[in-house]
Amino acid sequence: SSLTVRPYQPGPTEDAALRDICLRTGDNGTDASSLYALPWLLAAVYLDPYLKFHPHHCIVIADGDTPVGYAVGTPDTTAFTSRLTEHWWPQVLNRVAQVQNTGTHLLPADHALVTTIHQWALPPASVISSYPAHLHIDLLDAAQGGGWGRRAINELLTTMRQAHVPGIHLGVSAANTRAQGFYTHIGFTVVAFAPWGSFMGMSLTTP
Ligand code: ACO
Repeated sequence: SSLTVRPYQPGPTEDAALRDICLRTGDNGTDASSLYALPWLLAAVYLDPYLKFHPHHCIVIADGDTPVGYAVGTPDTTAFTSRLTEHWWPQVLNRVAQVQNTGTHLLPADHALVTTIHQWALPPASVISSYPAHLHIDLLDAAQGGGWGRRAINELLTTMRQAHVPGIHLGVSAANTRAQGFYTHIGFTVVAFAPWGSFMGMSLTTP
């Protein structure tokens, strides 16, 4: 395979490619592009703030020059959530309102994501205290199943250990059984349940 794992290279071409991956994997691992009237909204929630606030913790899987996957994260979920609430969500909601004012009709998935933003909350305190970092990972279909997800996570965990992060968590929906199997296989365990699925965590203090 000709794929490589490399650091994120900020710029409009790279960002557009990563946003496209976010949308094409956004329906529990399958293509969400037909579900959204606002094709940028999913990435505005689950990708862009990581690229902007933590470029050093963004890892790209590329086929030649073209991104085919990414892993992104924050070392400090509490501080990250404060930035989202104070600075990021108001901008996203403004952009949504502007588009609606021009007559664009949102689809149910757009509305659901806006509701998610309004109801945004920290994970349980027990999760945050042991696993203060969190991550997201998405690979296009063609890049899946070849060990690249594991490699990207390993690179991301290296950046987290270098930042002296004691543990990392993620949220995975009940419907995404493939990702649950992947995370379990690479060493995550379920650390809390949520209405939509579960939180999984991994300690970074033991080798
Ligand atoms: N059950 C058991 N083991 C699994 C499973 C599974 N469902 N999936 C993968 N594995 C194993 C592999 O066999 C492999 O084992 P090995 O290293 O011992 O040989 C190991 O896990 C690593 O697998 P990879 O090939 O690295 O997995 P992949 O590259 O496909 O990445 C991922 C997994 C990230 C879930 C990818 O398939 C993907 O991007 N899917 C679509 C988007 C998605 O669902 N993202 C997760 C959303 S949740 C979130 O981001 C917090």
